[in-house]
Amino acid sequence: MLNDETMRIDNSGRATTIRFFFDGQPASARVGESVAAALFASGTKSLRASPREHSPRGMFCLMGSCQECLVMVDARRVLACRTPVADGMRVETVPEAGINA
Ligand code: FES
Repeated sequence: MLNDETMRIDNSGRATTIRFFFDGQPASARVGESVAAALFASGTKSLRASPREHSPRGMFCLMGSCQECLVMVDARRVLACRTPVADGMRVETVPEAGINA
């Protein structure tokens, strides 16, 4: 069965675990993971809604090209796949009205 630990590349228990928040909910990550990897490992697949059809959007390319993983960190729009997660980081979904702003 897949869970938070089996989804991680290094599940040896050697990597330091840190805590961050996604839309106010606590989540865990390993030092060195991207925000996208940490969220995916914790079971989060949808990061925002598409502006036109409101369909769920999430990680796709994982290399900074598609911009499907856009999230807010410290009131700035960032790509979750290109942003290292940090202890105590507050990650928020992008407000729908702000996607095309
Ligand atoms: S998943 Fe494509 S830019 Fe992040």
